[in-house]
Amino acid sequence: MAKNISIAGKGGTGKTTLSALLIRYLLENGKSPVLAVDADPNANLNEALGFATRGTVSEIIKQTKAIDGVPQGMTKDIFIDYHLQMAISEGEGLDLLVLGGPEGPGCYCFPNQLLSHFMEELSKNYPYMVIDNEAGLEHLSRKVTQSVDYLLIVSDSTIRGVRSAGRIGNLVESLDLKVGKKALILNRSHEGVDKKALDEEIEKTGLPVLGVIPEDEMVFDFDASGKPLFELPQASGAVKSVFEIGAKLAI
Ligand SMILES: Nc1ncnc2c1ncn2[C@@H]1O[C@H](COP(=O)(O)OP(=O)(O)OP(=O)(O)O)[C@@H](O)[C@H]1O
Ligand SMILES: [Mg+2]
Repeated sequence: MAKNISIAGKGGTGKTTLSALLIRYLLENGKSPVLAVDADPNANLNEALGFATRGTVSEIIKQTKAIDGVPQGMTKDIFIDYHLQMAISEGEGLDLLVLGGPEGPGCYCFPNQLLSHFMEELSKNYPYMVIDNEAGLEHLSRKVTQSVDYLLIVSDSTIRGVRSAGRIGNLVESLDLKVGKKALILNRSHEGVDKKALDEEIEKTGLPVLGVIPEDEMVFDFDASGKPLFELPQASGAVKSVFEIGAKLAI
């Protein structure tokens, strides 16, 4: 079963940046193949990885629900299994599965159940799985996995950001999810932050800080011009910090 590293955090804090650079760390340190899962409805991990995507899991699920969505002579489970397999984008040492947007009203229990089973089987083929989540983490317990080895919660280096990360850390308790370790990652750190006040707020979350990623102009420039973060130079502050985080995960 894959070691599961899940990245959470409120919007725009740097989840996709951390996911992409952590995947790069795993690949460059022989911890491959990696299964990357984009569980954010506004999926863009593929761009950070420089990957073309195929269909999304949501599209497949919607198609299965539609009465005439499944060709005659095929059962729904075979249909879903085949299409989920086709939705995986394959790369060198790295495969990517994109969950996609919400399916809309109605009950999707059956296809979601099949998806959970598919994910369980799929994760057996990879030593590592990295999931770029939405803030609410709903997808995680409902569809992707019942257990997470490491939950990394990303926050900007502000009091409000850290409070929000603390709430996400607590939210996990209400989900049907087994979490091994939880940690906080502070992103976009810069001078001028009241460090004492920030440290007090961090203390209240009860989350250990596993790493600090500096504000890095190169990250912003690469995103602004649509260049994959995989191509950031090794000397980039963000790359260096995320590689240190990867080494500390020790999984
Ligand atoms: N360390 C950093 N230095 C400079 N810019 C950064 C850094 N981390 C993230 N950014 C920028 O912040 C923006 C948001 O980052 P990112 O997309 O990784 O966040 P996210 O949490 O995945 O957002 P969303 O919730 O929209 O999915 C991007 O424009 C990115 O370039
Ligand atoms: Mg994102």
